[in-house]
Amino acid sequence: MLKKIGIIGGGNIGGVLAQELAKRNLAKQIALVDVKEPDLAKGKMLDISEGMPVVSADTVLEGSKSYEVIENADMIINTAGVPRKPKPDGSLPSREELLSTNLKITDIVSENVKKFCPKTMLISIANPLDAIVYRLNMQLNFPRERLMGMAGVLDSSRYRFFIAQAAGVSVENVQAMVLGGHGDSMIPIRSACRIAGMPVEKFVDPDTLEALENRTRKAGGEVVKLLGVGSAFVSPAWSALEMAEAIIFDKKKIMPVSVRLEGEYGVEGLFIGVPALLGANGVERIIEMDLTDSEKEAFKKSTEAVRKTTSEVDALIQ
Ligand code: LAC
Repeated sequence: MLKKIGIIGGGNIGGVLAQELAKRNLAKQIALVDVKEPDLAKGKMLDISEGMPVVSADTVLEGSKSYEVIENADMIINTAGVPRKPKPDGSLPSREELLSTNLKITDIVSENVKKFCPKTMLISIANPLDAIVYRLNMQLNFPRERLMGMAGVLDSSRYRFFIAQAAGVSVENVQAMVLGGHGDSMIPIRSACRIAGMPVEKFVDPDTLEALENRTRKAGGEVVKLLGVGSAFVSPAWSALEMAEAIIFDKKKIMPVSVRLEGEYGVEGLFIGVPALLGANGVERIIEMDLTDSEKEAFKKSTEAVRKTTSEVDALIQ
């Protein structure tokens, strides 16, 4: 159990995070900051606090409009930013179209993290995922162990779910990794997808696999369209919690994480999803996976897509 976890952003993801962190007893104290609505964070935390006796947890929850509430947090989960929602003509914006708005919000986040908890471990969920973590890194200058983005766990979970449905097996039997940027260029790594240790191709035919991989790439948008008012929030929050638990319990668990590459996979200085080992010190190791030639090619393309968005970050901050 940590002493304190701070959540930035009191939207849907922040709300699920607060209740799950409390229910799972992951920290003695949980703080939620939301600067937009005057009493939203307070209200959400009061609601959860009032349910604590029923779930037998003694977590202390505090919500505020002021960043001071996250002071000295051992871990921060950043959700601050606007989500995607359908445009008036019914089309979907890409995650990248959120960049200029969310970049401004991100700069306020990093200013306050620096001020109130400069030694914290930070997991970021805001979109466009890899570009926002890149910007956080520019402002915070954290060692790479302590700053990471959550996307690959969610994308892999979606892939695993679709495969489990197609194969007619438990989701627990399906192991998979989705790497690369958190956008349409993400790469479901078929060569690493196993069902109870056996190659996925034994259970699902290649055409179906290809269709499911395409569905995985577009899965965030599929939920945005159905919800009509914003993006997925339960599965992203649970995915961030998987990362948080690996760190809190020093599990040494390998999962895809958006992390700053320093030469691994032939990439320098970009945040992109790769398998990483998470433990008490955060990102303790980056694992270089053996990819097939076509997966290598797809990784390169995804890197270029992430590079394009990060160069827009560089241009916007001029
Ligand atoms: C998604 C958003 C949260 O993939 O990026 O649903």
